[in-house]
Formats: sequence, structure tokens, C-alpha cells
Amino acid sequence: MKGMVFTELLDMVEEKFGINMVDSIIADADLPVSKGVYTAVGTYPHEEVVSLVMQLSKHSGIAPDELLKIYGEHLFGRFHGAYPQFFHGATDAFGFLSSIDQYIHVEVRKLYPDAELPHFECERDGDTMKMIYSSSRHMEDFAEGLIRGCLKHFNETATISRESISDDTSVFTLTRG
Ligand code: HEM
Repeated sequence: MKGMVFTELLDMVEEKFGINMVDSIIADADLPVSKGVYTAVGTYPHEEVVSLVMQLSKHSGIAPDELLKIYGEHLFGRFHGAYPQFFHGATDAFGFLSSIDQYIHVEVRKLYPDAELPHFECERDGDTMKMIYSSSRHMEDFAEGLIRGCLKHFNETATISRESISDDTSVFTLTRG
């Protein structure tokens, strides 16, 4: 995964839990490639994010799935600051979310050719939208956090439900209200 996923995670941990928590999770996590040192432009194994989140869960008592949602929500806010160009012309959450696969992640791939990105297929029907997520990395909780962050950004509310339909595919159903 791209280094910014790690640097932003550690920034968030410092902000919400303090610098000692950053030191503790880096010391206890299994980080064979990075050895706990990340640069925004580097690329590191996906397993290192999982290991850091597991340690954060152990030290904080918060479940890993909840931590990934909190992180996704936090990261969406950072994306807005870092990539304002992707938000031009976006007026609502459903419109923005349905542009991830065909536009946003396409542009992300141009910036970072080795990015590991999921697939999203969106089907809109009035106040309901289905997002079919496929990724071998299984970052559904992180995706749900990003969706939450997106709704918050556009000042919208929606219920989010999720169903796994195959080994690497889940469907999110968002209902506005
Ligand atoms: C401005 C908006 C966005 C930007 C700049 C962006 C960028 C990125 C980047 C850089 C990665 C990491 C790739 C890697 O480490 O190799 C990523 C992964 C991911 N993105 Fe986005 N993204 C955006 C919006 C979203 C939204 C709204 C969702 C919500 C559903 C989303 C879902 C994901 C997921 C789930 C992954 C993890 C990889 C996987 O599941 O296989 N992204 N994105």
C-alpha cells in the first residue's frame, strides 16, 4: 500500500491517542519491510496496516473493524485537503461515490502506478445506491469509513448496510434519509 495510507494512520493515532501509542504499536507490530519507518511516496505490504491496526486495537481496547472505520472516515477528510481537484464539480455524496471507479481511482493510478485499488460498481435508484466492492485485500471496514467520511463531507445522512456475496465481493447499500 502507498506510504500515505501509513503516514496518515500514524498521524491519526498520534492525534487521537498520543505519541506514546504510536511508539507502542510500532514496537509491537510485525513490520518486516518498513521497520516502522514510512515515507508518503513509498510502497509497503498491506499486511503492515493490518498488523498496526491489530496492535492499536490491543492497546486501545477498540475493535479492529471499528478502528478501520474511524480511520477511513478520518482519511476522507485528508483526501479533501490533499486532492481538491477530485472534488471539483462534485455536489453530492452519491455522485462523488459513483465516480470512484471511473474517475478518482483512475487519477490515483496515474499519480501512483503501483497503487492497489479496489473495484466499485455503483447502481443508483433514487434515494438508494448499491456499491459493489471487490478487492482481495478485504478492506470493507475501511471502505465503510470512507463512505461515512464522504457523507459527512457533503452534510448528508444515509444508512449503510453490507452483505458479503462472494469471497472477494461485498455489496454496500446506502439509503438516504
Ligand atoms: C479523493 C478521494 C480518494 C482518493 C484520493 C483515493 C485514493 C486512494 C489511495 C491512494 C489508495 C491506496 C492505494 C494503495 O495503497 O496502494 C486507495 C485505496 C482504497 N480506496 Fe480510495 N481514494 C479516494 C476515495 C475513495 C472513496 C470515497 C472510497 C469509498 C468507498 C475509496 C475506497 C478505497 C478502498 C476500500 C481502498 C483500499 C484498497 C482495497 O480495498 O483494495 N476511496 N484510495
